Amino acid sequence: MQTVQAIHAENLVKVYNGKVRAVDGVSFDVRPGEVFGFLGPNGAGKTTTVSMLSAGLRPTEGRAVIDGLEVNVDPEAVKRRIGVIFQEATADGDLTGRENIEVAAGCYGISAAEGRRRATALMEQMQITEAADRLAKTYSGGMRRRLELAVGLVHRPKILFLDEPTLGLDPQGRAGFWGFIQKLRSEEGLTVFVTTHYLDEADTMCNRIAIIDHGKIVATGSPGELKDKLGGDIVTLKTAPGAPDMTGVLRPLAGVYSVQSQDGTYRVKCRSGEPFVPLAVEACTRAGAGVTGVTVKRPSLDEVFLEFTGREFREEEGPTATDRAVLMQSVQSGLRGRR
Ligand SMILES: Nc1ncnc2c1ncn2[C@@H]1O[C@H](COP(=O)(O)OP(=O)(O)OP(=O)(O)O)[C@@H](O)[C@H]1O
Ligand SMILES: [Mg+2]
Repeated sequence: MQTVQAIHAENLVKVYNGKVRAVDGVSFDVRPGEVFGFLGPNGAGKTTTVSMLSAGLRPTEGRAVIDGLEVNVDPEAVKRRIGVIFQEATADGDLTGRENIEVAAGCYGISAAEGRRRATALMEQMQITEAADRLAKTYSGGMRRRLELAVGLVHRPKILFLDEPTLGLDPQGRAGFWGFIQKLRSEEGLTVFVTTHYLDEADTMCNRIAIIDHGKIVATGSPGELKDKLGGDIVTLKTAPGAPDMTGVLRPLAGVYSVQSQDGTYRVKCRSGEPFVPLAVEACTRAGAGVTGVTVKRPSLDEVFLEFTGREFREEEGPTATDRAVLMQSVQSGLRGRR
């Protein structure tokens, strides 16, 4: 029997206002219990994809199946099985942490007594018990993210969608947040779909990733597989001050793919760093340039990104103009609805 994929996306397309093709034929599968990373630059279509998968936005074309349920056919059933944490803070600052969780429980039809029990357990799990009865607006950024995680988990979803969950957190806050995610995954078999701007985070925390650019997936695989596709290592060589240029000496050496140089520092892409380093040091020394430093690195996801998109991945801090505009739209339509 074939196992049911946690998430199946098939040729998803979203066209906004009849002209902006934000997501352009995206297909992938996420296995149960996997942490799947969705990486892409600003405006690539990450939030739009998350919205379509989590039954918040109807696709223009294509279909998504979550835990065996068609999102287009039964969005409400899908919503009961998933937790969604958007990149904008969603906890109500004027309620306490505990109240935020209890209100969310009520929205899922969970009884008040059970809501209270779950709130207590979740706050314990997220280590915010001390702040349980304080207004959420007094929480630090990291505490707030953990509160949002607790809110997103109150109905015990099987699949969690996280849209840039660690944006704006310091490295300690990021590591802490991921600690909770990994624990949920190993102890409760939660499947996690996460978008992030932090490539190092995706590299260490995700089992598999997809890179999206201009609405299309350009690469999918485990971080290791994607790095292997680049085929090789990156060796950085520093030569002594005033040494002659070594580009012409390094390039013909065995296994070298490319050489970039700047101010006596050479970045060499080669098949394998180990045999290359002694060869390079000897060749440079013979050509009159003493080597003062060498590092060997496997390519990082930054190089993978560059390879597949032809662009550098720039890390951005804070919500983007797109996210703010979309948030404003939803706030405005919420206000209109109330009038
Ligand atoms: N409600 C909307 N109406 C019109 N265009 C939109 C809307 N939401 C997003 N877009 C456009 O669709 C494209 C994809 O946007 P999306 O928010 O999905 O990207 P993203 O990858 O999440 O970007 P970011 O990293 O900035 O969060 C962008 O060109 C954006 O301007
Ligand atoms: Mg986004």
